[in-house]
Amino acid sequence: MKVETLRWSHNQLEMIDQRILPAAFEYVSYDSASSVAEGIRSMVVRGAPAIGVAAAYGVALEALRLQSESMADFNIGMDAGFSTLAASRPTAVNLFWALARMRGVWESVAEQSSATVAQRLLAEAHEVLAEDIRINKAMGAYGAALLPDGARVLTHCNAGALATAGWGTALGVFRSAVEAGKNISVIADETRPFLQGARLTAWEMVQENIPVTLITDNMAGYMMAQGEVDAVVVGTDRVAANGDVANKIGTYMVAVLARRHDIPFYVACPLSTIDMSIASGASIPIEERSEDEVKGFRETHWAAEGVTIRNPAFDVTPAELVTGLITERGVILCPDAPKLRELFR
Ligand code: MRU
Repeated sequence: MKVETLRWSHNQLEMIDQRILPAAFEYVSYDSASSVAEGIRSMVVRGAPAIGVAAAYGVALEALRLQSESMADFNIGMDAGFSTLAASRPTAVNLFWALARMRGVWESVAEQSSATVAQRLLAEAHEVLAEDIRINKAMGAYGAALLPDGARVLTHCNAGALATAGWGTALGVFRSAVEAGKNISVIADETRPFLQGARLTAWEMVQENIPVTLITDNMAGYMMAQGEVDAVVVGTDRVAANGDVANKIGTYMVAVLARRHDIPFYVACPLSTIDMSIASGASIPIEERSEDEVKGFRETHWAAEGVTIRNPAFDVTPAELVTGLITERGVILCPDAPKLRELFR
């Protein structure tokens, strides 16, 4: 099944509602920057590359919405749209990467009519989407070569087609390995509290007929100690210039366990997720989400009333625990600052 996480239809952006998967499969329509920002904030769309693609369409939608305004009002409205999108979520750098790219395109045609600007921005958003799938497939080929036939691979969160425009980063590696004829089985961490592993990764792998076993997050150490994990592959929301990796909360714990058990720990990472402006993971902004997500799930709450709750949505894995970054330009083993500088030269 081809998963179209985001699609352009009837002059609107449609996104699969990832809050309700797998119980229901529904698209939600968007027609402005503020509505797309709300879709990102509320997790209708999530996953770093998908957030970037959504933001690109948010900019294009805003231009289409404002194209009959005076040039002055168009410019003011567009600036506001960029700011609203930038404030939607803080950690995934793909959001800011996509907004910078769209602003560059806007500036390059700013002298032209608003309608022309809007069409140019829409064409760029389509290109960001198509490029994301091409990049995932390139990463998939490099990553697949790292996995031996028969590998049992643990992943955390959802870095699949649902987290991108299609194919996926970490799950793209599994798809590419299977396409290359390898027997791969996946161990999916449930990924508390939003359950991206149980709901989204498990759903994607089941759709794809790739064998998948679901475990709760606190079972990863046991599985590794039993010799049931051959490799770990995860995605990332932002990689600092020294190779430190921010990803879904719990990834750091998996990386420490993998090192303890001599299991390779790979991070599938498009170049758009590397933030060379940030020296180390210590400076990556970590989103804190609502305490309701930890209290329980949806309407069901099980935590004791009155308890203090923390809900950091991401953590940082130091570069020293990363066996390799799988990028669209190849695999960077033992990533560090000089290797990442070289990658962008
Ligand atoms: O909070 P989420 O669901 O947006 O977090 C997603 C992740 O942590 C993914 O692993 C990451 O964005 C990489 S997606 C290819």
